[in-house]
Amino acid sequence: MTAFPVVRMRRIRQNATIRDMLAEVTLEPRHLILPIFVCPGEGEARAIPSFPGISHWSVDMLPEIAGPAIENGVKAFLLFGLPTYKDEDGTSAFDAGQPVQRALGFLRESYPDTFLIADTCMCEYTDHGHCGHLSADGSVDNDATLELLSKAAVSQAKAGAHMVAPSDMMDGRVAAIRDALDREGFSGTGIMSYAAKHASAFYGPFRDAAGSAPSFGDRRGYQLPPMNPREIIRDALLDADEGADILIVKPAVPYLDIASKLRARTDLPMAGYIVSGEYMLLHSAISAGALERSRGLLEYHTAVRRAGCDLVITYFATELAGLLRRN
Ligand code: PBG
Repeated sequence: MTAFPVVRMRRIRQNATIRDMLAEVTLEPRHLILPIFVCPGEGEARAIPSFPGISHWSVDMLPEIAGPAIENGVKAFLLFGLPTYKDEDGTSAFDAGQPVQRALGFLRESYPDTFLIADTCMCEYTDHGHCGHLSADGSVDNDATLELLSKAAVSQAKAGAHMVAPSDMMDGRVAAIRDALDREGFSGTGIMSYAAKHASAFYGPFRDAAGSAPSFGDRRGYQLPPMNPREIIRDALLDADEGADILIVKPAVPYLDIASKLRARTDLPMAGYIVSGEYMLLHSAISAGALERSRGLLEYHTAVRRAGCDLVITYFATELAGLLRRN
């Protein structure tokens, strides 16, 4: 007998059916974006030693990675490229004959229903590995870089990208790229900007995979300082003002506080990027027998949705989509 009405959620939790019916946050294959590294050559499906489970794919081999992803329900890819040449200004970023541009054409034709996003940055294309044009003092020249990024974005749009994803963190890049795309007749091409991209230790395996580690210094001059949450939100919202269509928070799980704060400040769609270092964290824990694979992956990825992200960019996309479909 109770003196007042008591609502005990246990009465709901103990029944699997109503528990499922009341799930507030869901993770579905349609929420996942798979990053792909495209390399030159033919017949290449080269494993990356420091990034177990992830490979470099030449354009002709893309069906081997794209096919299973699409079969499991993944609807979008994020493309990174290894160019055939690098120079001071990363001019191969806007060369139509390079792997990313060729991959865009190939995927557009082979999988017309798939949404294609191209990472737009200079670090994979410059011989020094920084994300833009260097000034005489070795720092990245913000405004000179905007021109290079705009050219890269236009070249990717021409090649078939539905969306470009600037990850360089220069000031004013979203506005500059929006302007360049519009001027060149690509007003329909979207911008998914890395709005909250932190100067993080979690990009290690990616930099090996993309050959984009800076040859000197680091990226703290342009990426966001992890200890400054107010500055991060202020900076991220600028991308929205400049015309970004989707905002990325990266890395994802170490920065879920940022995702949740940003969610409260914008109605734009958001994506959380579970980066290479987070992938390795999960991979190592699973390999060590310390984390149950399916449950661990589901819980980790669902956290990103719970924090307010619509989409999750993850190297686990194909496996996870398969799991979700079977559940
Ligand atoms: C390019 C870029 C990076 C990542 C995505 N785009 C690396 C960096 O900023 O050094 C990292 C992705 C990952 O670690 O999975 N600027």
